[in-house]
Formats: sequence, structure tokens, C-alpha cells
Amino acid sequence: MKKKPHVIVTRRLPDAVETRMRELFDTRLNIDDRPMSRAELVEAVKTADVLVPTVTDRIDATLITEAGPQLRLIASFSNGFDHIDVETALARGIVVTNTPGVLTQDTADMTMALILAVPRRLVEGAHVLDVDRDWAGWTPTWMLGRRISGKRLGIVGMGRIGEAVARRAKAFGLSIHYHNRHRVAPEVEEALEATYWDSLDQMLARMDIISVNCPRTPGTYHLLSERRLKLMRPEAYLVNTSRGEVIDEAALTRLLEADAIAGAGLDVFEHEPSVSPKLLRLAAKGKVVLLPHMGSATIEGRIEMGEKVLINIRAFFDGHKPPDRVLP
Ligand code: DGY
Repeated sequence: MKKKPHVIVTRRLPDAVETRMRELFDTRLNIDDRPMSRAELVEAVKTADVLVPTVTDRIDATLITEAGPQLRLIASFSNGFDHIDVETALARGIVVTNTPGVLTQDTADMTMALILAVPRRLVEGAHVLDVDRDWAGWTPTWMLGRRISGKRLGIVGMGRIGEAVARRAKAFGLSIHYHNRHRVAPEVEEALEATYWDSLDQMLARMDIISVNCPRTPGTYHLLSERRLKLMRPEAYLVNTSRGEVIDEAALTRLLEADAIAGAGLDVFEHEPSVSPKLLRLAAKGKVVLLPHMGSATIEGRIEMGEKVLINIRAFFDGHKPPDRVLP
């Protein structure tokens, strides 16, 4: 009988996925469900045939260089793969896969939730009853937010998630604008009545709401730099459900403190899981809504991610090209 590949998974996964993984492979799970230490990761790459990391593991060049010759596949339980040095992995003959597609709708839902929550002061309002308990009753001038309908939404990165955000936003009466490396197909633009902006700077200067939906690549680090953030209108809002590092977070914080940007909804941070105290203070004031990287956190999504990981591992060891192979 063929020897089962030895698979090391760095975090707990949904029960159904773990059960299937144990049935199919010689699997070692991280039952403590805490991030593995560097030493544990080194031990994992020296012993596993397959490593299944998540976005909280740094699979960098140094770690990959430590890998033994038995490590043949890094099957990441994630859509993004900025936590993996794909180039170094490929140079060492290690295949990398991810789980694209299955998080699109959930992440777009959460993006839309932030697009609604920040201008309409949803969290601030909920706090009045929940934490402060000081509601004196309805008044015509209290808790006024900004109308969503009729505003301009600028989407930075019109991939799968960007497009799914655009579909939702259109239904809420927002006009759709986008900046992307290349224009999307004319029929998609037409269906969304979307305007393409070749210049990110010009788009930033004109929008009421900006939604960041591009992946984190070497080219998108601080794409929204201080200079670019300063182009935004003081009435504009910023939402990020992509990766914290796409925005210069310190600059964003300064601009929010100075009321040079109206507000922000952030599901991701530059130094996760640590969140800057300044941002936390802005949240307490109702200026920002902060979420702990939960854009894709649905039971269905996590199970589908697990299924993708299983399919990729099986395809690889059956001698086929895994469907979700990642290239640098
Ligand atoms: C991913 O998989 O890239 C997500 O950010 C995790 O929610």
C-alpha cells in the first residue's frame, strides 16, 4: 500500500475538515490552536511532506531554506499568500497552493457591512444601548450619519472580491468607480455601470468612499501612502478588508485624528494581531470601526477552504497539477 503523505497543519480547522484530513493522510494537527513557534515551524518543514499553514504563519525564505527534501507542497489554508515566499519555495521545487474563490462572497459581505456601518454610525449607535446606556430618546439632530445612496464608491483592486463588492454597492445606490492594473471585461463594466480610473490618485481625490480590495503583493505595499491618502476628501471614508500593509496605517491614523478623512472601517491591520492604541482611541470616539480580521469568517467558507486544501493535496499526490497552484 502507498505510504500516506505526512501532513502538518498549523492551526485547528473545522471538525469535518480535520476528520477527512486524518482519514486521507498521516496528519498532525495543532490541537492547541495557537500560532506555532518558529522552532515548531522549522521542525515541521524538516519532517512534513505537506505543510498546511494559515495567514498567521510566516513562511519566509529563511524557513523555506531550512526545509528538508521531503517537503514538496505548501497547501495554504488561505486565499492570500503574502505570508509565503512563493519564489523561494518554487526555487526549491516546493509547490504552493491557496484556496481562492470560496471567500469572495463572505469578504464582499463584510466589506459592504463596513461601507454601511461607518457612515451610518452603526457601532456607535449600538454602543449607546449596549455599553453607555444613556439614551434620552429620539431627536431630529442626534446620531446623524451620512447617506449611502447616491455616493461614489472607488474600489482599489477589481478582482473577484472587488467585483462582488461592486455588485452589492450598486444595489445600495452607490455609483461604482474602480482602479485596477487592467480594465475588467466591457460586459462587466457595463453591468456594474462602472467607471475605470487609470489614475489611482485622481480616483482617490473624487470619491466619497474608498474600498481596498487588492491583494498584498510587493507592488501594493503602502499603495495608499501618506501622499495618496492626503488626496482623499475630508468627507470621504476608507474601508479595508484586504491586508493592513496596503495602507500606510500610521499616516491614515494621523489623517483621521486631524479630521482630514471622515472615518474608516478596518478589518485588517499592519501589525496583526496588534492594533495601535491610537486606532483604538479613534474607535472609542466612533471615528473608525475596527474588526479583528473576520472578513471571511463564516462556517461555510472555512469548510470550503478546507475542501480546497484537501483537493490540492490529493491532486498533487495523485500526480496531477493541483488546481490552485500559486505562482509568484
Ligand atoms: C485569507 O485567507 O487570505 C483571508 O485573509 C483569511 O481570512
